[in-house]
Parts: sequence; C-alpha cells; structure tokens
Amino acid sequence: MPVTTHFFPKGFKWGTATSAHQVEGHNTNNQWALWEQQDGRIVNGDVAGRACDWWRNCEGDFDRMLELGLNAHRLSLEWSRIEPTQGQFDSAALDRYRAMLLGLRHRGIEPMVTLHHFTNPIWLAEQGGWENEAVIAWFARYVRVVVDTLGDLCDLWCTINEPNVYAVLAYVAGAHPPGIQGAMPRSLAVLRHMLMAHAAAYQVLHERQVLARVGLAHHMRYFSPLRPNNPLDALVANFQDQVFNQSVITALTKGQWSLALRQGTSQSARGLRGTLDWIGLNYYTRQFTMFDISSRATLFGRVIEPAMLREAEIFGYRNPLQTEISDFNYGEIYPDGLWKLLQRLGRLEIPIYIAENGLPDADDDQRPAFLMQHLKPIWLGIQFCYDIMGYYHWSLTDNFEWSEGWRMKFGLYELDPATQQRILRPSGRLFADIVKSNSLNRAQAEKFAPHILPRLFPV
Ligand code: GAL
Repeated sequence: MPVTTHFFPKGFKWGTATSAHQVEGHNTNNQWALWEQQDGRIVNGDVAGRACDWWRNCEGDFDRMLELGLNAHRLSLEWSRIEPTQGQFDSAALDRYRAMLLGLRHRGIEPMVTLHHFTNPIWLAEQGGWENEAVIAWFARYVRVVVDTLGDLCDLWCTINEPNVYAVLAYVAGAHPPGIQGAMPRSLAVLRHMLMAHAAAYQVLHERQVLARVGLAHHMRYFSPLRPNNPLDALVANFQDQVFNQSVITALTKGQWSLALRQGTSQSARGLRGTLDWIGLNYYTRQFTMFDISSRATLFGRVIEPAMLREAEIFGYRNPLQTEISDFNYGEIYPDGLWKLLQRLGRLEIPIYIAENGLPDADDDQRPAFLMQHLKPIWLGIQFCYDIMGYYHWSLTDNFEWSEGWRMKFGLYELDPATQQRILRPSGRLFADIVKSNSLNRAQAEKFAPHILPRLFPV
C-alpha cells in the first residue's frame, strides 16, 4: 500500500514566528528607527511605521492564529521599549507584554519569547552596540528584569535571534545598521559578544526560573560549491560553513572558539559550553559560492546571486534537482538542505525547533509546495528519532522585512499595511489543514501543490 499520510507526533508545536520591530509598529527608540530615516537604506524608502499594528492590537492576529489552529507562536520583546533609557525599565511596556503573553495563553497558544531580534535601544547603539563588550552585562540585566516580570507566563526562551546574520549584515554586507562593509574582525567580535551574552542570559534565566528552557535561533545556510568538481569552490563552501554555521554550534555545545572566532581575543569560551537546552534552526534557502581571490571580506568566497544561477550553465552547473529560484533573489529553494542540516543538528542530541522557515511569495504560487517540501524532511527527521519539537512558519502576515522594506511578502496572510486588511493566502489554508490533521497528506498535495505530488508521495 503506498503511503498517503505522514503523521506528526501528538503535541507537536505548530506555530508562526514574528519579531517586535517587524510587527509592533511605532518603535521609535531603536537603531532601526534611525536607520530607516536615512536615504537609500531601505528599498523604496519604506519604513516600518505602523507595521502590523501589534502594539495596539496584536489580539486580532492571535485570533487568526487560533483560526489556523496553531498551538504555538514565537514573538520577540523590544528591548528599547522595556529599557528606553539605560538602567530604567518601563513598567507600562512590560504590562503590554504581559497582556500579549496572556492573550496567547488564553487562546492555548504557547509563546516562545525571543529576547533580542536585531534591534538595539538607541542608548546601546550610541555606545558601540554589540562591539562594546559591556553589552554582555547590560543584556543580562535586561533579561533578569524580563524573567522576573514575565516568567510566570513563559518558560521557553530564545535568547538571541541569528547572531551570525546580525554580525554579517551589519559589519560585512553593510545592509543593516551600523552599515559597515567588509569589516570581518569587527563582525567576529560582535558574534563573540552575542554568544557570550547568550551564555550570560542562559545563567540568569536558569537562576530565576527552575523550569526555563533556553536556546537560541541559529540561521543556517546550506553552502554549495558553484562548480561541484572545483576543489577551490568546495574549499570556500566548507570554510563558509565552518565560520557561519558551525562556529556558533561548537562554541555553545563544546565551549570552544573555532579558528575564526579565536582571532583577536584572549577570552575563553569555556563558559559557553552546554548553554543550549534546545537549538532553533532558521532555514530558508541554499547559497552557492565560488572561489574568488578578490573577495577577502567574505573569506574568498563569492556569493552567487540566484538570478545568476539561471546563467550558470557556463560554469557547468545544471541544477540537477530542478529546484526553483525564489522571487527577489532570495535564494534557491532547496528542501534537501534542511534535511542535511537536520542530520547535523540531530547528532547534538538536544531538542530542535524549526524556529523560522518561509518564503517571500506575494502571489503564493510557490509557498504551498515550499511548505510541504520543507515539512517532509522534518517529518523524516522525527522518524529518525531526532527530537524535533515544533515548526514556526515565518510568518503569520506580511511584515516589515528590514532593508527589503515591504516588498518581500512572507505572510500566510496577505497584509495591506495602509488599511491593515488581512487576506488568507492559499498556503494559509494549507497550513491550517496540516495543523488540524497533524499530518502531511496526499489530499493536501493534490489540492495545493499537484506538481510535487510524485516527489512527496511516490507510488
Ligand atoms: C530572518 C530574520 C527574520 C526575517 C526572515 C525573513 O533571517 O530572523 O527577522 O526577516 O529572515 O527574511
């Protein structure tokens, strides 16, 4: 009998993920608010503005989560609201977050709370941001206030979102504030400080809350050599994988700096060892890389823009899996990469949450297949006894996508930021069906993504 249904375990967490600045609206006291005012920083001169209006009314979207049947949601707290002036904490902001977490709890939706998601209070940015080692103690103090005021409503904590992405976009690519380009040593120092702050927060959370489950959301890319048989391309792909993906894992599990992170510091990583109760995997697309002697800032690896892949036959690349290129140069849709990364994380023998996975796809012609193709390796990982606890789709509604502004649309719901009107996309209906049936099945593929049916459910 051909298999027609892949069931997920009872109690599997099905959720969506958001971050404060991208959805709350009117965050005026962080470094992004300043950055958005500078010419040319954000595509189309967009600003977060009112965003998804969550500060006023997140409850409407919580009801939508309920309509989708979700039992989990990952959201972040805005440090600049909670500690608007250094050392002074705002009880009204904390009250609003209490109401948010209660709103989720009342609906039976378990919150995962991220404590830092790309934004810094202006007072921190003015003192060098994450380059300044003092941030570690400042972050720990803020975390203590948070756990003391909100700890009765949340015990699943994600300390920092994507330290590697933060460090690269802000200090190598220059696309995020402070907009520095090519400063690899500074970027690595920032990454180190973030990992140390994670460990400090880990200690604080466990001291104050017996049942705390503390982890971090780690963005992993699947790096492939553009020319599969070229040893230099393979070398840079491997090197980028070590620095971007593996160094974070090695630091937090073994308490050791990788070769790159060891440069320029005498600080030990020993205190970082064993500071993951779980690991969050944020996975989007695969990245192709080729050796390029002039690309020093990116470790001699030239990142190949996805649009170039279409021309890539000149390099002998054939796209053997016939995978698709997502809109907006967002990368190559590559569910196999998720499987390979899960195999790697599975070996850590700690619980895994897929803390983000999604696609910018305004017309929703790719997202249904994307969703099913990425849930399949997750299901498979569970069959291999990897401790995969939940899946948080990025994102519930379209939201403010950092330097890409509003043009990249990741929502299961389409959102018009001007009118705040939301419309459920077909992928939202599909996700609701997956959640309700706690399974991936043939009928869903037939209805929402027939072209991938043979790949998902071979007969
Ligand atoms: C992640 C980030 C999110 C969101 C997403 C979509 O790297 O954590 O905030 O922007 O990418 O690109």
